[in-house]
Amino acid sequence: MADIVRYSPEDRRAVDALYRRVFGHDSADASRLRWDWQYRLNPNNPGGAPVIWIAREGPAIVGQYATMPVRLSLGGREVQGSWGMDVMVAPERQRQGLGEVLFRTWDRNVGASLGLGLSDSSYKLFQKLRWPDVGPIPCLVKPLTRRALRRPEWPVGVNRLVSALTLPVVKIVARTRPLAAEVRMIQRFDDSFTALWEELAPKFPLAIRRDAAYLNWKYVNAPHVRYAIAALRRDDQNVGYAVYRHVHEPRGRVTLLVDFLADPADESGFETLLRWVDREARQADSDKIRTFAMHAGFRRVLKRSGYFVVKSTMEFVAKVNGIEVDRAFYDHTDDWHITLGDSDQDR
Ligand SMILES: CC(C)(COP(=O)(O)OP(=O)(O)OC[C@H]1O[C@@H](n2cnc3c(N)ncnc32)[C@H](O)[C@@H]1OP(=O)(O)O)[C@@H](O)C(=O)NCCC(=O)NCCS
Repeated sequence: MADIVRYSPEDRRAVDALYRRVFGHDSADASRLRWDWQYRLNPNNPGGAPVIWIAREGPAIVGQYATMPVRLSLGGREVQGSWGMDVMVAPERQRQGLGEVLFRTWDRNVGASLGLGLSDSSYKLFQKLRWPDVGPIPCLVKPLTRRALRRPEWPVGVNRLVSALTLPVVKIVARTRPLAAEVRMIQRFDDSFTALWEELAPKFPLAIRRDAAYLNWKYVNAPHVRYAIAALRRDDQNVGYAVYRHVHEPRGRVTLLVDFLADPADESGFETLLRWVDREARQADSDKIRTFAMHAGFRRVLKRSGYFVVKSTMEFVAKVNGIEVDRAFYDHTDDWHITLGDSDQDR
């Protein structure tokens, strides 16, 4: 049986080669671009070193479980949380129990083990191991142009008809609305965002701690994408933020609202951030805006602002070890705050 050990820098080449075999060349190249930032520069790394588990058989590396350490806030009480990611077992060694040993080693060593956006095989393994299944994270889309509803699998005529029929609704949904508070673009998150997080943390029974160090690492220093960041301001103070970017997809141009924060009770504040993102999306010529929101309060405001819930494939599993929680904890997730910005979903 394989030994499970912590990754050391000499393993890098063998791990890269395994990654290429399991996930293919494109994903491997993309992963190399992110690797240093994602694993070495995470401000929450305990002891400053990447936390990656390796399955070794003699000189060969046959599996890995890479992680993203985070502070997980449970209504303000923090535990050492960990997103599991880039888990892989060499193809010829799959379905022989190695994955299970890797998952369990990871889980034994963290205050909370978290998985987001899972592949079919890892989702099935989480289910087999009875991790609480609390997803998927609802996906919401706001159409801005009639191209938003196009589907590549439909014939041109059907697409034209659907566009024509839905145009009046899209026009109403996408109309410009005034901003009720000040919004300002920022380049970095200053310490006031740590204070904002500390004030809001008790309102979320589960959320990743969004302090300035984490936010800057995640959204300012990311090497693979460029984000725009808008701060919501009231009485000269930062009271919320939105992180977004514009992407080209085969079906058209999309603005991704990747992460956001505001007091869930401050509905007009969050609405203002959404109106700002609307303007930015229109300016970028986007056909739609897409976001993911677990918090039911934020979802309510999103729907009121013209977003529709669509099918989501972003599965979410979470298991808290660091403090006692009962089974019912996993049944009441309406106030949990998880977005597309969490884990390494926005690649
Ligand atoms: C996910 C992965 C790491 C699991 O490792 P593994 O060593 O095969 O897992 P184990 O043998 O310990 O566990 C097997 C269980 O996982 C699930 N599973 C694993 N591969 C599966 C597959 N291809 N289809 C369906 N279920 C699968 C099943 O529940 C299976 O139980 P069973 O064999 O009793 O049916 C491995 O399949 C892998 O490398 N997959 C490709 C990469 C990937 O998808 N990574 C996840 C990214 S989120």
